[in-house]
Amino acid sequence: MTRKRIGILTSGGDAPGMNAAVRAVFRGLKAHSPDHEIMLFREGLNGLAGRLDVNYLVDIERRSLRDIINRGGTFIGTGRIPELKPPPADCADPEAWERRRREITDVAVINIRQFALSSVVVVGGDGSFKGLLQIAQAYAARYGEQVGLVGVPGTIDNDIWGTEVCIGFDTALNNTVECLRKLRDTIDSHRRCAILEVMGNTSGWIALTTAIAGGATTMMLPEVPETFDIPKVLARVRAAVRLNYRYITIVMAEGVRTASGNPRLGEELRDAIEGDPVIRDIQGRPLETRLNTVGYLARGGHPSAFDNLLASRLGDAAARRALSDERAPVMMGLKNNQVVVADLEAVVRHSPRLITPDHELLRVADHLLIGPEQQF
Ligand code: F6P
Repeated sequence: MTRKRIGILTSGGDAPGMNAAVRAVFRGLKAHSPDHEIMLFREGLNGLAGRLDVNYLVDIERRSLRDIINRGGTFIGTGRIPELKPPPADCADPEAWERRRREITDVAVINIRQFALSSVVVVGGDGSFKGLLQIAQAYAARYGEQVGLVGVPGTIDNDIWGTEVCIGFDTALNNTVECLRKLRDTIDSHRRCAILEVMGNTSGWIALTTAIAGGATTMMLPEVPETFDIPKVLARVRAAVRLNYRYITIVMAEGVRTASGNPRLGEELRDAIEGDPVIRDIQGRPLETRLNTVGYLARGGHPSAFDNLLASRLGDAAARRALSDERAPVMMGLKNNQVVVADLEAVVRHSPRLITPDHELLRVADHLLIGPEQQF
Protein backbone atom coordinates (compact mmCIF):
# COMPACT_ATOMS: atom_id res chain seq x y z
CA MET A 1 0.00 0.00 0.00
CA THR A 2 1.44 3.40 -0.96
CA ARG A 3 1.24 5.89 1.86
CA LYS A 4 -0.57 9.02 0.67
CA ARG A 5 -0.79 12.57 1.91
CA ILE A 6 -4.16 14.18 1.19
CA GLY A 7 -5.10 17.82 1.64
CA ILE A 8 -8.61 18.79 2.75
CA LEU A 9 -10.19 22.23 2.90
CA THR A 10 -13.60 23.87 3.10
CA SER A 11 -14.14 26.90 0.89
CA GLY A 12 -16.70 29.56 0.02
CA GLY A 13 -19.85 30.27 2.04
CA ASP A 14 -19.96 27.93 5.05
CA ALA A 15 -22.63 25.23 4.84
CA PRO A 16 -24.03 23.09 7.69
CA GLY A 17 -22.69 19.58 7.17
CA MET A 18 -19.22 20.63 6.01
CA ASN A 19 -17.78 19.27 9.26
CA ALA A 20 -19.41 15.89 8.66
CA ALA A 21 -17.87 15.82 5.19
CA VAL A 22 -14.36 16.59 6.50
CA ARG A 23 -14.82 13.98 9.22
CA ALA A 24 -15.94 11.35 6.66
CA VAL A 25 -12.95 12.03 4.39
CA PHE A 26 -10.58 11.83 7.37
CA ARG A 27 -12.07 8.60 8.71
CA GLY A 28 -12.40 7.07 5.23
CA LEU A 29 -8.69 7.60 4.63
CA LYS A 30 -7.69 6.29 8.06
CA ALA A 31 -10.01 3.28 7.67
CA HIS A 32 -8.07 2.37 4.53
CA SER A 33 -4.76 2.73 6.34
CA PRO A 34 -3.65 4.63 9.47
CA ASP A 35 -0.45 5.45 7.57
CA HIS A 36 -2.15 7.93 5.25
CA GLU A 37 -1.41 11.48 6.27
CA ILE A 38 -4.09 14.17 6.19
CA MET A 39 -3.49 17.91 6.03
CA LEU A 40 -6.41 20.16 6.92
CA PHE A 41 -5.93 23.65 5.51
CA ARG A 42 -7.50 26.49 7.44
CA GLU A 43 -9.61 29.31 6.00
CA GLY A 44 -10.26 27.64 2.67
CA LEU A 45 -7.97 28.47 -0.22
CA ASN A 46 -6.26 31.10 1.95
CA GLY A 47 -4.73 28.19 3.85
CA LEU A 48 -3.63 26.27 0.77
CA ALA A 49 -2.23 29.46 -0.74
CA GLY A 50 -0.88 30.97 2.43
CA ARG A 51 2.22 30.89 4.58
CA LEU A 52 2.20 27.33 5.71
CA ASP A 53 3.51 28.01 9.20
CA VAL A 54 0.12 29.32 10.26
CA ASN A 55 -2.42 27.85 7.96
CA TYR A 56 -2.63 24.11 8.22
CA LEU A 57 -3.24 21.25 10.64
CA VAL A 58 -1.17 18.15 9.89
CA ASP A 59 -2.65 14.73 10.46
CA ILE A 60 -4.55 15.69 13.61
CA GLU A 61 -5.71 13.00 15.97
CA ARG A 62 -9.15 11.49 15.53
CA ARG A 63 -10.14 12.94 18.90
CA SER A 64 -9.71 16.45 17.43
CA LEU A 65 -12.62 15.68 15.13
CA ARG A 66 -14.80 14.42 17.96
CA ASP A 67 -18.28 15.90 17.97
CA ILE A 68 -17.67 18.23 15.04
CA ILE A 69 -20.40 16.35 13.19
CA ASN A 70 -22.96 18.10 15.36
CA ARG A 71 -21.61 21.59 14.80
CA GLY A 72 -22.64 24.03 12.12
CA GLY A 73 -20.19 26.06 10.13
CA THR A 74 -16.76 24.60 9.41
CA PHE A 75 -14.29 24.00 12.25
CA ILE A 76 -11.26 24.55 10.01
CA GLY A 77 -12.65 27.82 8.73
CA THR A 78 -13.39 28.90 5.18
CA GLY A 79 -12.86 31.95 3.07
CA ARG A 80 -13.09 33.45 -0.35
CA ILE A 81 -10.25 34.73 -2.57
CA PRO A 82 -11.86 37.20 -5.00
CA GLU A 83 -8.63 37.47 -7.00
CA LEU A 84 -9.01 33.87 -8.19
CA LYS A 85 -11.96 35.12 -10.23
CA PRO A 86 -11.54 37.51 -13.20
CA PRO A 87 -11.31 41.18 -12.15
CA PRO A 88 -14.72 42.94 -11.89
CA ALA A 89 -15.59 45.41 -14.65
CA ASP A 90 -15.00 48.32 -12.27
CA CYS A 91 -11.61 47.00 -11.10
CA ALA A 92 -9.31 50.02 -10.68
CA ASP A 93 -6.14 48.09 -11.45
CA PRO A 94 -6.66 44.84 -13.43
CA GLU A 95 -2.89 44.32 -13.77
CA ALA A 96 -2.47 44.34 -9.97
CA TRP A 97 -5.43 41.97 -9.71
CA GLU A 98 -3.81 39.60 -12.22
CA ARG A 99 -0.44 39.80 -10.37
CA ARG A 100 -2.19 38.90 -7.09
CA ARG A 101 -3.94 35.99 -8.83
CA ARG A 102 -0.63 34.65 -10.12
CA GLU A 103 1.01 35.06 -6.68
CA ILE A 104 -1.80 33.17 -4.94
CA THR A 105 -1.75 30.40 -7.54
CA ASP A 106 2.07 30.07 -7.42
CA VAL A 107 2.16 29.84 -3.61
CA ALA A 108 -0.57 27.19 -3.62
CA VAL A 109 1.26 25.20 -6.30
CA ILE A 110 4.53 25.32 -4.35
CA ASN A 111 2.76 24.36 -1.12
CA ILE A 112 1.16 21.36 -2.79
CA ARG A 113 4.58 20.31 -4.10
CA GLN A 114 6.41 20.88 -0.81
CA PHE A 115 3.89 18.78 1.03
CA ALA A 116 3.83 16.19 -1.75
CA LEU A 117 0.05 16.10 -1.72
CA SER A 118 -1.29 13.39 -4.04
CA SER A 119 -4.82 14.86 -3.93
CA VAL A 120 -6.77 17.79 -2.53
CA VAL A 121 -10.38 17.38 -1.40
CA VAL A 122 -12.38 20.63 -1.38
CA VAL A 123 -15.82 20.98 0.20
CA GLY A 124 -17.45 24.05 -1.26
CA GLY A 125 -19.28 25.66 -4.15
CA ASP A 126 -18.53 26.08 -7.83
CA GLY A 127 -16.52 29.24 -7.21
CA SER A 128 -14.15 27.24 -5.00
CA PHE A 129 -13.92 24.44 -7.56
CA LYS A 130 -13.03 27.01 -10.21
CA GLY A 131 -10.20 28.36 -8.04
CA LEU A 132 -8.85 24.86 -7.31
CA LEU A 133 -8.96 23.95 -11.02
CA GLN A 134 -6.79 26.97 -11.80
CA ILE A 135 -4.27 25.88 -9.15
CA ALA A 136 -4.27 22.27 -10.39
CA GLN A 137 -3.73 23.42 -13.97
CA ALA A 138 -0.82 25.65 -12.86
CA TYR A 139 0.62 22.70 -10.92
CA ALA A 140 0.47 20.42 -13.99
CA ALA A 141 2.06 23.14 -16.15
CA ARG A 142 4.90 23.62 -13.67
CA TYR A 143 5.65 20.02 -12.72
CA GLY A 144 4.37 18.02 -15.66
CA GLU A 145 2.12 15.86 -13.48
CA GLN A 146 -1.34 16.18 -11.97
CA VAL A 147 -2.44 16.59 -8.39
CA GLY A 148 -5.79 14.86 -7.83
CA LEU A 149 -8.77 17.15 -7.24
CA VAL A 150 -11.95 15.91 -5.59
CA GLY A 151 -14.87 18.29 -5.06
CA VAL A 152 -17.65 17.76 -2.53
CA PRO A 153 -20.68 20.07 -3.17
CA GLY A 154 -21.26 22.22 -0.08
CA THR A 155 -23.42 25.33 -0.36
CA ILE A 156 -26.84 26.27 1.00
CA ASP A 157 -27.67 27.69 -2.46
CA ASN A 158 -28.03 24.16 -3.86
CA ASP A 159 -26.95 25.56 -7.24
CA ILE A 160 -24.11 23.20 -8.21
CA TRP A 161 -24.52 21.26 -11.45
CA GLY A 162 -23.78 17.53 -11.32
CA THR A 163 -25.65 16.80 -8.11
CA GLU A 164 -29.33 16.88 -7.21
CA VAL A 165 -28.62 18.30 -3.78
CA CYS A 166 -25.74 20.07 -2.01
CA ILE A 167 -24.60 19.74 1.59
CA GLY A 168 -26.18 22.51 3.66
CA PHE A 169 -29.32 23.02 1.59
CA ASP A 170 -31.61 20.89 3.77
CA THR A 171 -30.52 22.62 6.99
CA ALA A 172 -30.95 26.04 5.37
CA LEU A 173 -34.42 25.07 4.13
CA ASN A 174 -35.42 23.98 7.65
CA ASN A 175 -33.99 27.21 9.08
CA THR A 176 -35.93 29.40 6.65
CA VAL A 177 -39.19 27.48 7.09
CA GLU A 178 -38.77 27.90 10.86
CA CYS A 179 -38.28 31.65 10.34
CA LEU A 180 -41.42 31.79 8.18
CA ARG A 181 -43.41 29.98 10.87
CA LYS A 182 -42.20 32.38 13.55
CA LEU A 183 -43.09 35.32 11.33
CA ARG A 184 -46.52 33.86 10.69
CA ASP A 185 -47.42 33.94 14.41
CA THR A 186 -46.97 37.68 14.72
CA ILE A 187 -48.45 38.75 11.38
CA ASP A 188 -51.45 36.50 12.00
CA SER A 189 -51.98 38.27 15.33
CA HIS A 190 -51.89 41.70 13.64
CA ARG A 191 -53.44 40.70 10.28
CA ARG A 192 -50.39 41.99 8.42
CA CYS A 193 -48.31 41.17 5.36
CA ALA A 194 -44.69 39.99 5.64
CA ILE A 195 -42.00 39.81 2.99
CA LEU A 196 -39.31 37.31 3.98
CA GLU A 197 -36.03 37.61 2.04
CA VAL A 198 -33.88 34.47 1.91
CA MET A 199 -30.40 33.70 0.60
CA GLY A 200 -29.61 31.76 -2.55
CA ASN A 201 -27.21 34.01 -4.42
CA THR A 202 -28.47 33.99 -8.05
CA SER A 203 -30.73 30.96 -7.56
CA GLY A 204 -34.21 30.64 -6.08
CA TRP A 205 -34.04 27.09 -4.67
CA ILE A 206 -34.27 28.15 -1.01
CA ALA A 207 -37.15 30.57 -1.74
CA LEU A 208 -39.12 28.08 -3.88
CA THR A 209 -38.84 25.20 -1.43
CA THR A 210 -39.48 27.45 1.59
CA ALA A 211 -42.63 28.85 -0.04
CA ILE A 212 -43.94 25.33 -0.68
CA ALA A 213 -42.86 23.74 2.60
CA GLY A 214 -43.78 26.77 4.72
CA GLY A 215 -47.15 27.46 3.08
CA ALA A 216 -46.37 30.97 1.88
CA THR A 217 -49.01 33.03 0.07
CA THR A 218 -46.63 33.64 -2.82
CA MET A 219 -42.95 33.82 -3.77
CA MET A 220 -40.42 35.78 -5.84
CA LEU A 221 -37.72 33.85 -7.74
CA PRO A 222 -34.82 35.32 -9.77
CA GLU A 223 -35.35 32.69 -12.49
CA VAL A 224 -39.04 33.57 -13.00
CA PRO A 225 -39.50 37.29 -13.86
CA GLU A 226 -43.33 37.17 -13.49
CA THR A 227 -42.82 36.41 -9.80
CA PHE A 228 -40.99 39.68 -9.15
CA ASP A 229 -43.10 41.90 -11.42
CA ILE A 230 -44.58 44.22 -8.77
CA PRO A 231 -48.00 44.73 -10.47
CA LYS A 232 -48.35 40.92 -10.67
CA VAL A 233 -47.35 40.49 -7.05
CA LEU A 234 -49.93 43.15 -6.07
CA ALA A 235 -52.58 41.24 -8.05
CA ARG A 236 -51.81 38.12 -6.01
CA VAL A 237 -51.98 40.08 -2.75
CA ARG A 238 -55.31 41.67 -3.78
CA ALA A 239 -56.70 38.21 -4.54
CA ALA A 240 -55.69 37.02 -1.05
CA VAL A 241 -57.28 40.11 0.54
CA ARG A 242 -60.47 39.50 -1.44
CA LEU A 243 -60.50 35.99 0.01
CA ASN A 244 -60.13 37.56 3.43
CA TYR A 245 -56.73 35.95 4.21
CA ARG A 246 -55.87 36.83 7.85
CA TYR A 247 -52.23 37.44 6.88
CA ILE A 248 -50.03 37.32 3.82
CA THR A 249 -46.50 35.94 3.47
CA ILE A 250 -44.27 36.56 0.48
CA VAL A 251 -40.96 34.64 0.27
CA MET A 252 -38.42 36.63 -1.74
CA ALA A 253 -35.09 35.23 -2.99
CA GLU A 254 -32.26 37.72 -2.51
CA GLY A 255 -31.31 37.26 -6.16
CA VAL A 256 -34.42 39.08 -7.38
CA ARG A 257 -32.78 42.34 -6.35
CA THR A 258 -30.13 41.72 -9.01
CA ALA A 259 -32.40 39.96 -11.53
CA SER A 260 -34.80 42.92 -11.48
CA GLY A 261 -31.98 45.46 -11.62
CA ASN A 262 -33.56 47.02 -8.54
CA PRO A 263 -31.55 46.56 -5.32
CA ARG A 264 -34.46 48.06 -3.37
CA LEU A 265 -37.12 45.75 -4.81
CA GLY A 266 -38.20 44.46 -1.39
CA GLU A 267 -38.67 47.93 0.01
CA GLU A 268 -40.46 49.02 -3.18
CA LEU A 269 -42.88 46.09 -2.92
CA ARG A 270 -43.56 46.85 0.75
CA ASP A 271 -44.37 50.49 -0.12
CA ALA A 272 -46.54 49.43 -3.10
CA ILE A 273 -48.59 47.06 -0.91
CA GLU A 274 -49.07 49.68 1.81
CA GLY A 275 -49.96 52.29 -0.79
CA ASP A 276 -52.35 50.17 -2.83
CA PRO A 277 -55.96 51.54 -2.79
CA VAL A 278 -57.47 48.05 -3.10
CA ILE A 279 -55.24 46.30 -0.56
CA ARG A 280 -56.79 47.27 2.75
CA ASP A 281 -57.14 45.61 6.15
CA ILE A 282 -60.52 44.90 7.78
CA GLN A 283 -60.69 48.48 9.10
CA GLY A 284 -60.14 49.78 5.57
CA ARG A 285 -56.62 50.97 6.43
CA PRO A 286 -53.44 50.28 4.40
CA LEU A 287 -52.21 46.71 4.96
CA GLU A 288 -49.20 46.98 7.28
CA THR A 289 -46.28 45.22 5.57
CA ARG A 290 -43.03 44.19 7.26
CA LEU A 291 -39.83 43.34 5.39
CA ASN A 292 -37.68 40.67 7.09
CA THR A 293 -34.43 39.01 6.07
CA VAL A 294 -33.32 35.54 7.16
CA GLY A 295 -29.82 36.29 5.92
CA TYR A 296 -27.00 34.35 7.57
CA LEU A 297 -29.31 32.65 10.04
CA ALA A 298 -30.06 30.20 7.21
CA ARG A 299 -26.49 28.90 7.51
CA GLY A 300 -26.42 28.55 11.30
CA GLY A 301 -27.24 25.86 13.78
CA HIS A 302 -26.48 22.17 13.88
CA PRO A 303 -26.70 20.35 10.55
CA SER A 304 -29.87 18.37 9.78
CA ALA A 305 -29.66 14.60 9.81
CA PHE A 306 -30.13 14.64 6.04
CA ASP A 307 -27.14 16.95 5.54
CA ASN A 308 -24.89 14.93 7.84
CA LEU A 309 -25.91 11.73 6.07
CA LEU A 310 -25.30 13.29 2.63
CA ALA A 311 -21.98 14.73 3.80
CA SER A 312 -20.86 11.37 5.20
CA ARG A 313 -21.72 9.57 1.95
CA LEU A 314 -20.03 12.13 -0.32
CA GLY A 315 -17.03 12.52 2.01
CA ASP A 316 -16.52 8.77 2.14
CA ALA A 317 -16.70 8.57 -1.66
CA ALA A 318 -14.23 11.47 -1.90
CA ALA A 319 -11.79 9.58 0.33
CA ARG A 320 -12.01 6.52 -1.87
CA ARG A 321 -11.42 8.62 -4.98
CA ALA A 322 -8.42 10.37 -3.37
CA LEU A 323 -6.91 6.95 -2.56
CA SER A 324 -7.28 5.76 -6.14
CA ASP A 325 -4.66 6.49 -8.75
CA GLU A 326 -7.16 8.61 -10.69
CA ARG A 327 -6.04 12.22 -10.96
CA ALA A 328 -8.71 13.70 -13.23
CA PRO A 329 -10.57 16.49 -11.37
CA VAL A 330 -14.04 15.29 -10.29
CA MET A 331 -16.89 16.10 -7.93
CA MET A 332 -18.83 13.53 -5.94
CA GLY A 333 -22.58 14.11 -6.30
CA LEU A 334 -25.96 12.50 -5.65
CA LYS A 335 -28.32 11.40 -8.44
CA ASN A 336 -31.42 9.25 -7.81
CA ASN A 337 -30.06 8.78 -4.30
CA GLN A 338 -26.89 7.21 -5.67
CA VAL A 339 -23.40 8.70 -5.25
CA VAL A 340 -22.07 9.64 -8.69
CA VAL A 341 -18.87 11.12 -10.07
CA ALA A 342 -19.03 14.27 -12.21
CA ASP A 343 -16.28 15.85 -14.29
CA LEU A 344 -15.23 18.92 -12.27
CA GLU A 345 -14.67 21.08 -15.32
CA ALA A 346 -18.21 20.25 -16.52
CA VAL A 347 -19.53 21.11 -13.04
CA VAL A 348 -17.88 24.53 -13.20
CA ARG A 349 -18.96 25.06 -16.82
CA HIS A 350 -22.65 24.32 -16.14
CA SER A 351 -22.96 25.95 -12.70
CA PRO A 352 -24.80 27.70 -11.18
CA ARG A 353 -27.67 25.25 -11.60
CA LEU A 354 -30.78 27.43 -11.71
CA ILE A 355 -34.51 26.62 -11.62
CA THR A 356 -35.68 25.72 -15.15
CA PRO A 357 -39.16 26.83 -16.36
CA ASP A 358 -40.33 23.21 -16.59
CA HIS A 359 -39.12 22.22 -13.14
CA GLU A 360 -41.58 20.02 -11.25
CA LEU A 361 -41.42 22.20 -8.13
CA LEU A 362 -42.63 25.21 -10.14
CA ARG A 363 -45.61 23.16 -11.29
CA VAL A 364 -46.31 22.09 -7.71
CA ALA A 365 -46.10 25.74 -6.59
CA ASP A 366 -48.60 26.72 -9.29
CA HIS A 367 -50.98 23.98 -8.26
CA LEU A 368 -50.62 25.16 -4.66
CA LEU A 369 -51.66 28.62 -5.89
CA ILE A 370 -48.38 30.31 -4.87
CA GLY A 371 -47.06 30.64 -8.41
CA PRO A 372 -46.76 33.83 -10.49
CA GLU A 373 -50.17 33.85 -12.16
CA GLN A 374 -52.41 32.81 -9.29
CA GLN A 375 -55.57 34.84 -8.95
CA PHE A 376 -57.09 32.09 -6.83
O1 F6P B 1 -23.16 31.03 -1.32
C1 F6P B 1 -23.80 30.91 -0.09
C2 F6P B 1 -24.26 32.27 0.37
O2 F6P B 1 -24.85 32.15 1.63
C3 F6P B 1 -25.23 32.95 -0.57
O3 F6P B 1 -26.56 32.48 -0.42
C4 F6P B 1 -25.07 34.38 -0.15
O4 F6P B 1 -25.50 35.30 -1.14
C5 F6P B 1 -23.54 34.44 0.03
O5 F6P B 1 -23.15 33.15 0.48
C6 F6P B 1 -23.09 35.45 1.07
O6 F6P B 1 -21.68 35.48 0.95
P1 F6P B 1 -20.78 35.88 2.22
O7 F6P B 1 -20.96 34.80 3.25
O8 F6P B 1 -19.38 35.90 1.66
O9 F6P B 1 -21.28 37.22 2.68
